[in-house]
Amino acid sequence: MKHFTSVKDIPDLKKAVETALEIKKNRFDYKHFGKNKTMVLIFFNPSLRTRLSTQKAAMNLGMNTMVMNVSEDGWQLESELGVVMDSDKPEHLKEAIPVIGKYCDVIGVRSFARFQNKEDDYAEKILNQFIDYAGVPVVSMEGATRHPLQSYADLVTIEEFKTKERPKVVLTWAPHPRALPQAVANSFVEWMRETDYELVVTHPEGYELAPEFMGDVKVEYDQKKAFENADFIYAKNWASYTNYGQILSKDFGWTVNEEKMALTSNGKFMHCLPVRRNVVVSDDVLDSSSSIVVEQAANREITAQAVLKMILEETS
Ligand code: CP
Repeated sequence: MKHFTSVKDIPDLKKAVETALEIKKNRFDYKHFGKNKTMVLIFFNPSLRTRLSTQKAAMNLGMNTMVMNVSEDGWQLESELGVVMDSDKPEHLKEAIPVIGKYCDVIGVRSFARFQNKEDDYAEKILNQFIDYAGVPVVSMEGATRHPLQSYADLVTIEEFKTKERPKVVLTWAPHPRALPQAVANSFVEWMRETDYELVVTHPEGYELAPEFMGDVKVEYDQKKAFENADFIYAKNWASYTNYGQILSKDFGWTVNEEKMALTSNGKFMHCLPVRRNVVVSDDVLDSSSSIVVEQAANREITAQAVLKMILEETS
């Protein structure tokens, strides 16, 4: 693996799950893999889990880590090509990225959708500049359209908790006061499509995800019907793709609650976190034994370590 930006970078998904579960049992057995190697983690957006779990994963492999929050720690970076740089951004990504690449062996980058231009976001304009100019492997710590480290952890968590070979997995839209990117939802669908699980997506009309991610995945507009006999409920808000970046609904009728979870087959509740209590999901669900959000977040360390191990194996 040279770069990690989507499920397409994983050569064998079944083996990747096995690797992650093996690492989970013996996470300190690979300390020599990253000796004298350095990972730089670049954040254009806030993070708790991704920042800590990826740093921990790198440290488990014996790597050194450096973290930079671009908006607070460094020069503001220009990303547009061919511009006259006479405004507030004194440095261009075209110099900054190769310089960062000289100080490390792997770069992690988080750059969310900006919702200014759908084409730019869906072309992964920032992430792809890192791939083009870094000169070292790049790991997406959430791009504009995908969050592959999250999806890998989601898959491993479902594998750990499933009680049948082919579980029914439901991705449900839920309300939120802010306009959030589609990255987690897109990526979750993309990874689930690589399994033989039964996948159902439910959301209000107007929240259809991009066709390249959805393919022929079933959309059920009746949330309660979608929940029937589900083994896993994955809640997430996203802003409209068609009316790009717009909030079309804040309907609390879509909040996941105990009444809806009762329709499932003793289903487990999942969310990537951070989650807004009593907006996305009620307290009683999040505080119940059906919630596996903490276990899901814990697996972020494991799958980040698996990705870094694959990269180090390929490049050393
Ligand atoms: N799920 C996730 O990526 O969390 P953070 O935004 O806190 O990193």
